[in-house]
Amino acid sequence: MLLPDRFEIGRPDNMHVHLRDDERLSLVAPFTCRQFGRAVIMPNDPEILTAGSLAAYERRIRRVTDNFDFRPLMTLKLTHRTTPREVELARELGAVGCKLYPRGVTHGSDDGIDDVRALDEVFRAMAGCGLVCQIHAEQADSFVLDREFDFLPSVLGVLERHPDLKVVLEHVSTAVGAEFVASGPDNIFATVTPVHLTCTLDDIIGHGLRPHNFMCPVPKRSSDRDALIAEVCKPGQRKFGVGTDSAPHDRSQKERPRGCAGVFSEPVALSVYAAVFERWGAADTKVADLERFCSRNGADFYGLPYNEGTITLARDEWVVPTVYRSSRAHWGKENPLDEARGGVEIVPFLAGEVVTWRASSPASSEV
Ligand code: DOR
Ligand code: ZN
Repeated sequence: MLLPDRFEIGRPDNMHVHLRDDERLSLVAPFTCRQFGRAVIMPNDPEILTAGSLAAYERRIRRVTDNFDFRPLMTLKLTHRTTPREVELARELGAVGCKLYPRGVTHGSDDGIDDVRALDEVFRAMAGCGLVCQIHAEQADSFVLDREFDFLPSVLGVLERHPDLKVVLEHVSTAVGAEFVASGPDNIFATVTPVHLTCTLDDIIGHGLRPHNFMCPVPKRSSDRDALIAEVCKPGQRKFGVGTDSAPHDRSQKERPRGCAGVFSEPVALSVYAAVFERWGAADTKVADLERFCSRNGADFYGLPYNEGTITLARDEWVVPTVYRSSRAHWGKENPLDEARGGVEIVPFLAGEVVTWRASSPASSEV
């Protein structure tokens, strides 16, 4: 049974997104705000290490999103210099969590964590004041396909030593990771990206190099993708929720010898999730299960009320633009002077392809 041609779900949340700063922030933020009532904002680029910089970044985000009915949910990045007092201050300023990046595992993680146990005091403070720990669960020095698997013992250690700490296994990418979360205690949750629900490693390196599909963790085997789909679409499933991990980089940073990891998935995120549920969801509960995944599970885990309002999903094919440009980039970038001219060009996930679903908010979400 297909999804209805047009239906509403409660206004969704995106529990993992990179909004960046400056010109990139202005270019990408509207894609988040049009679809989501709230989003958990990652702290790696720009790097947010103190409560003060968190508050200043939140103000910059609010400045470019105040036309929308949208609330950024701020996070602090953990380093070995983070103190219990700093996380408590961040909480007082409204932060919802702290992000743990293992050192060197991805973009903006050079000062990340190489000894998870050393954070135990910080974890205690986080649990004490109700901050969630978002974990990029990859072992930096392992073979790329084994990185998530190899980091799971570290996540397990955190859960065992801190049963009161809420932990999110971000962008889960393997069958084992999904099973770890599904069978884990109530204080573990996972976000799932549109990329990991639709791609495998073949979509990055199997048919020519496609740098705009490259992200960390890399999409893996079809058996991993299928296991993620099965968990996400399971009727009544409450441990998995939307986290697009939309991570825009300028095209020049993606198309170079050592290109950055990160996929700008935000423009197509809800379209992709809807298509996955249409194809793989349980016949009679598809809409309810999609709504739970997009609009309920994340809020429940973070202890937030559901958003007011709804979003409409309509079966309406559209072609994904091949590139999104900031206003200063409209002259194109072929010219060698372009670097000096500035401007941003970002290639979205599924650029140039046809997607089936269009998400639209009532006009009231743009105030
Ligand atoms: O692919 C990724 N890009 N993974 C991350 O963890 C970080 C992100 C980014 O900030 O570009
Ligand atoms: Zn991310």
